Amino acid sequence: MFTTQDIAQIREQIRLWKRQGETVAFVPTMGNLHLGHMTLVKEAAQRADHVVVSIFVNPLQFGQNEDLDAYPRTLSADQAALVEAGAELLFTPTPAIIYPKGMELQTFVEVPKISDELCGASRPGHFRGVATIVCKLFNIVQPDIAVFGNKDFQQLMVIKTMVEDLSLPIEIVGIDTIREPSGLAMSSRNGYLSDEQKQQAATLKQTMDAMAEAISQGQDVEQAVSEAGQQLSQAGFKLDYLSVRNAANLHPIGADDKQLVILAAAYMGSTRLIDNLCFTRN
Ligand code: PAF
Repeated sequence: MFTTQDIAQIREQIRLWKRQGETVAFVPTMGNLHLGHMTLVKEAAQRADHVVVSIFVNPLQFGQNEDLDAYPRTLSADQAALVEAGAELLFTPTPAIIYPKGMELQTFVEVPKISDELCGASRPGHFRGVATIVCKLFNIVQPDIAVFGNKDFQQLMVIKTMVEDLSLPIEIVGIDTIREPSGLAMSSRNGYLSDEQKQQAATLKQTMDAMAEAISQGQDVEQAVSEAGQQLSQAGFKLDYLSVRNAANLHPIGADDKQLVILAAAYMGSTRLIDNLCFTRN
C-alpha cells in the first residue's frame, strides 16, 4: 500500500487507474481504525478494482470543546490493518495541506435542515465541516464509489443529499454497523471508555431493541421514548437526544410511516456515543 500526503500523487495514481478503465472505491476515515472500518474497506474492495482510504482528523467538524487534540492518532497500526483489508492507496494529509488558508475558508458546503437537528443541534457547524471535507476529498480522489458506516446515520444522509444536490457522479454505499459481542457499536471513541463503562454502554443497543419491539407492537412512540430515556439514565447515560424518525428522510414520523429509525446520542462519562436502529412498524 502506498501512503502519501501529496494531493498531486493521489491524483496521478488515480488518473493511471482510470486511464486503464479501472474503478476506484473510496473510504474516508479519521483513523484509529477498528473492525467497523475494516468491514468498509473489505466491502469497497468487493465493489471496485482499487481501494483508496484517507485518514484525516478534520478540525472543521470539531466544536471548540470537543476532542480534536485528544482524538487518537494511530497511523502505523492503521496502515498494517489497511494492507490486510486490501487498501492500495492511503491519503494522510495534514490540516495545512487540506486548508492552506487556515480554518477561515472562503467556501463551505452546507446541507441545510438535515444538518441542523439531532447531532447538528448539539454540534453546531459539525455537518458543515463533514460536508466540506467529504466534498474536498471527493474532488481529490474522484472515486466511482464511496463507502460509509450506517452508524453515522445522519452523516450518511447529509452526504447522500450533498452528492445528489451537487450531481456528483459517485455511488454512496452505507454498511451495517459492526458491534461488540455486547451489542455496543464499534467506534474510535469507545477507546475512551473504561471496561465498566463499556458494559454499561451496551444497554444503549438493548434499549433501542426493546423500543423498536414495543413500537412495532403498537406502543405510543412518545411513551416509548420517555420510558427508554429513563432506562438509559438509570444505566448511567446522560442523554443528548433520543428520537424516532422516518428512516428515509429523518422527518418526524407521521401516523402512516412504516420505515422508522431510532437515533440516539448519549454521554457515558465524558464520552459522547451515538447509535441508531432501523425497523419496520406493522
Ligand atoms: O465518519 C468519519 O470518520 C468522518 O466524519 C469523515 C466522514 C471521515 C469526515 O471527516
